[in-house]
Amino acid sequence: MLEVKSLTKRFGTKAAVDKVSFQIDRSMMIGIIGRSGAGKSTFLRMMNRLTDASEGELLFEGRNVLSLKGAEKRQWQSDCAMIFQQFNLVPRMDVVSNVLHGTLGRRSTLATMFNLYPEEDIHKAIDILGRLGISEHAEKRAEALSGGQQQRVAIARALMQDPKVILADEPIASLDPMNAQTVMEALRRIHDEDGRMVIANLHTLDTARRYCDRIIGMRDGRVVFDGTPAQLTTGVARDIYGAGADFSEAATSTEIRDHEDVEAVERRLAKVTV
Ligand SMILES: Nc1ncnc2c1ncn2[C@@H]1O[C@H](COP(=O)(O)OP(=O)(O)OP(=O)(O)O)[C@@H](O)[C@H]1O
Ligand SMILES: [Mg+2]
Repeated sequence: MLEVKSLTKRFGTKAAVDKVSFQIDRSMMIGIIGRSGAGKSTFLRMMNRLTDASEGELLFEGRNVLSLKGAEKRQWQSDCAMIFQQFNLVPRMDVVSNVLHGTLGRRSTLATMFNLYPEEDIHKAIDILGRLGISEHAEKRAEALSGGQQQRVAIARALMQDPKVILADEPIASLDPMNAQTVMEALRRIHDEDGRMVIANLHTLDTARRYCDRIIGMRDGRVVFDGTPAQLTTGVARDIYGAGADFSEAATSTEIRDHEDVEAVERRLAKVTV
């Protein structure tokens, strides 16, 4: 389904993505992990053609998407919708209009200028918001919503494109653990129910383990791990992150701590100050 062959991106002499190769045979939910600068975003940007590769191939359903031009390239960009850490919504615009922006690629300039959307699209947008559990916010301005709700609006906007693949670049990095969980559950459900492939760059190990079928670990532009959550042991994780023996999984965790934990920490801190 997806075949990446020796994909490389150089900035000057430095390879940000260095001969990356892997193959995915069926639609699944894939997590890409690795420390800052490992090349995760650059990989997604090449896949969605936001940036051009220096070398290599990327085949989706047998077609090399890196050589597509013009209308075919735009169609591909619509087939693989991108979601970003900062949501990229229009803050002062209402939620439904933000979602309808997902149809911009196939509308005339004039219709766009006058904010004219076909009724069918408006219904579709509201249905999608309903699926994501945020239809009651449809008329509010995007900026009035919580981070987790805003990210679900961004997912809804992506779904308006009816994409085959959803690329998510650190979709939960700006969210608190509760909102992070809601957003990851939404992505997982879209994969399970619609069969869309999801590829998400993730900062935290536990999120990748919990939601993904397959995890790709990158280090210095290369793939250093490719396997299932069960195969991603602490030792392997240490290698991916290039950390020493003091490596702690907690440092890469978004785990929701229960109340007792917080109280215990506060008690300890209180002792220190006394
Ligand atoms: N436009 C650019 N020009 C020059 N160098 C770049 C550019 N974009 C990325 N890089 C470099 O490429 C490498 C990979 O960057 P990338 O953003 O892909 O990493 P990342 O894994 O997404 O990191 P993070 O977890 O911080 O988002 C880094 O060394 C970065 O400095
Ligand atoms: Mg990045």
